[in-house]
Amino acid sequence: MEAKPYLQSIALQHDSIDSYDEYPFDIPAVRELDYLDFHPDVTFLVGENGSGKSTLIEAIALLLGFGPEGGTKNVQFRTSEDISPLSNYLTSSRSFKKPKDHFFLRAESFYNVATYMDDVGYLRGYGDKSLHARSHGEAFMAALTMKLSGRGLYILDEPEAALSPTRQMAAVSAIHQLVQDDSQFIIATHSPILLSYPNSRILLLDGTGISEVEYEDTEHFAITRHFLNNYERQLALLMDDPET
Ligand SMILES: Nc1ncnc2c1ncn2[C@@H]1O[C@H](COP(=O)(O)OP(=O)(O)OP(=O)(O)O)[C@@H](O)[C@H]1O
Ligand SMILES: [Mg+2]
Repeated sequence: MEAKPYLQSIALQHDSIDSYDEYPFDIPAVRELDYLDFHPDVTFLVGENGSGKSTLIEAIALLLGFGPEGGTKNVQFRTSEDISPLSNYLTSSRSFKKPKDHFFLRAESFYNVATYMDDVGYLRGYGDKSLHARSHGEAFMAALTMKLSGRGLYILDEPEAALSPTRQMAAVSAIHQLVQDDSQFIIATHSPILLSYPNSRILLLDGTGISEVEYEDTEHFAITRHFLNNYERQLALLMDDPET
């Protein structure tokens, strides 16, 4: 029996849902969800803004025992009361083997986690330097490369938000090293660079629900490539200049 994936699958308990008219059950990706199988290495969640990636990833994190703002499992604080009840309606299937390390990285609330780490003096694993004394991208890379110790289950929501293209490639490398060290990732992303990581499954959230998609069939790959290869023409179209 394989140890990975630590988180094998989740299922939505439709019997317990009273109405699909309100958030989060009105989101098509949630409404149509029966169960999801996770890749042993990396599962990517992609989809338009508002398609439900953060809602789903937060619910998975809560189901696994993380605090809603992210961090390690020891970080259990919340600055917002706006936590969706979705995790209460999910069940999970897990490996016989438990991960040794956990981290939930949210672009949206990373600043709050950094402040919390400062407040409690919990900087071990971050290079003993306040995350606020680093730039946004440096702090993110510090969390990724120094805090994550392997044999872990890691949930990342838009880790690329602060990262330059070069750092995004460095992040792919860091993710690969952690995967080789028996880690599993679930990552919501818009980054065509991160999405290129091959030991993965890409799940697309859209108006019809959730489906698996190949890297080169994602809009992230196709649109970015088309734009960069034709950016002058594309810009002219976007800026509506009939002379170009
Ligand atoms: N607390 C909330 N109450 C009501 N609706 C919400 C709440 N949070 C999110 N939504 C709505 O749910 C939908 C999904 O939001 P979510 O944040 O999960 O999207 P996302 O796929 O992560 O988008 P992005 O790519 O912009 O991060 C959106 O239409 C959003 O407006
Ligand atoms: Mg989001």
